[in-house]
Amino acid sequence: MDKKVCLITGATAGIGKEAAAMIAKENFSLVFTARNFQKAEETKKYLIEKSGNTDINYFYCDLSSLNSISRFCSEFREKYDRIDVLINNAGTWEFRLNLSEDGFEKTFAVNHLAHFYLTHLLLDLILVGNQSRIINVASAAHKYARFNFDDPDSSKNFDFLKVYANSKLANIWFTNVLALKLKSKNITVNSLMPGVIVSEILRNFPFPVKQLGKLISKPTIEGAKPIVRLAISDDLKGITGTYFDEFKIGRMSKEAANFEKALKFWELSEKMISSKISDFHAI
Ligand SMILES: NC(=O)c1ccc[n+]([C@@H]2O[C@H](COP(=O)([O-])OP(=O)(O)OC[C@H]3O[C@@H](n4cnc5c(N)ncnc54)[C@H](OP(=O)(O)O)[C@@H]3O)[C@@H](O)[C@H]2O)c1
Repeated sequence: MDKKVCLITGATAGIGKEAAAMIAKENFSLVFTARNFQKAEETKKYLIEKSGNTDINYFYCDLSSLNSISRFCSEFREKYDRIDVLINNAGTWEFRLNLSEDGFEKTFAVNHLAHFYLTHLLLDLILVGNQSRIINVASAAHKYARFNFDDPDSSKNFDFLKVYANSKLANIWFTNVLALKLKSKNITVNSLMPGVIVSEILRNFPFPVKQLGKLISKPTIEGAKPIVRLAISDDLKGITGTYFDEFKIGRMSKEAANFEKALKFWELSEKMISSKISDFHAI
């Protein structure tokens, strides 16, 4: 049997870096995306040292650019022909309104649209693996979402709290619809809240907020553990469309559990991507 492949986004910092190290120990072929070559090289070295696994590679991908994602996916498939575990982990929390190269608010672009698009582009490779798993790193912050279908990326009415919460609601809506679409294909799709964890996620925030964040957060490794469990645990075989709060089944908000809205949002996400990528193929 060919070696299993795990692809994780955003492993150059925080929770993703520790999750990548733990998964590399499990004898996966580990691939991560990075937007900064220096950080990527340092991360690769760190992961090899921590895991003893040398089968670790990275690709450049700026998740705030749909073209960069498309280039990355083409390069990835030149080297790999399967994905057994996809961890959509990368995230940003913009404090001010910043637009992506494609004109979308950046938090929404990176946290949701990027992973929606990347998963579409690589789905055929995920289908190759037997019982492949997709894990979307969401957050309990989704409970504060105020989603407006007329301003999905909050670019007209920016509020730093709302835009992050909305992007995390988007992760759960994406998970729930994708899980249903892939149920008959033996692929599981789950989302989770990893915990309140020390990381670089507050990098765009004022200093006192960053300091407060550190005081109330758990060590980074604690956020990686529930992700790795979803990625490899035999106990979770066949579990799909579920939102986890760390290790337990979590209670998603009423809005997140609204499947009709999730479907409407899926169609809207398709439209947002099609408006920028003319040959985008919907699942
Ligand atoms: N920390 C928490 O308490 C917490 C709680 C709930 C959910 N989460 C979720 O956990 C996930 C990981 O976050 P974290 O806390 O570990 O944050 P982090 O330390 O800031 O790590 C974020 C990762 O995403 C990458 N990234 C950000 N923007 C990118 C872009 N435009 N293109 C490519 N990569 C990009 C970063 O790359 P660089 O290294 O180049 O910056 C980094 O590798 C996120 O989805 C976050 O929403 C975190």
